[in-house]
Amino acid sequence: HEPALPSWTQLVRDIHDFPKPGIVFKDITPMLADAQGFAGAIDTLAAPWRDASIDAIVAVEARGFIFGAPLARALGIGFVPVRKPGKLPGRTVRQTYALEYGEDTLEIHADALHAGARVLLIDDVLATGGTLDATRALVERLDARVIGAGVLIELAALHGRARWNGTAPLRAAWVV
Ligand code: PRP
Ligand code: MG
Repeated sequence: HEPALPSWTQLVRDIHDFPKPGIVFKDITPMLADAQGFAGAIDTLAAPWRDASIDAIVAVEARGFIFGAPLARALGIGFVPVRKPGKLPGRTVRQTYALEYGEDTLEIHADALHAGARVLLIDDVLATGGTLDATRALVERLDARVIGAGVLIELAALHGRARWNGTAPLRAAWVV
């Protein structure tokens, strides 16, 4: 017997054949536009970590920012962006990771986290897992501690969890 899904999940819309034929895209925009839906999603993301003594949220450009910033405010902690290459003005650390075809790179400011900082990683979706695991690697290269990772939606069929090399828990608010 499955526990009831949070009501915000009903505001996530399926878009068929986006971005390619055969793909069913989970469109969060109707949920974001709904005050109760958006607040509910942030509450669901925050719930496992309220007593985890997290020092900072690290979230990934672009869609991770939508959730990471309000979550940082909800937990009363700071926010650190991970960005696509060339966007951060200070000295950065970069991590390149494999995609299905080709590769991608992410960056974080080298001084964004102090050594030992207790960090929660946030993104909207766990798909193949490359983005989240590269973010974990960036944070660990700054000698901060990844206490956990939270995603709003885990696309289970893409087995992103298998690519997670962290020892900390990876929690999905909704597994589809
Ligand atoms: C999407 C999504 C996640 C990532 C998940 O970001 O927001 O960050 O893909 O995929 P993965 O688990 O296979 O790495 P995208 O790179 O499309 O960019 P955006 O957030 O800027 O829209
Ligand atoms: Mg993204």
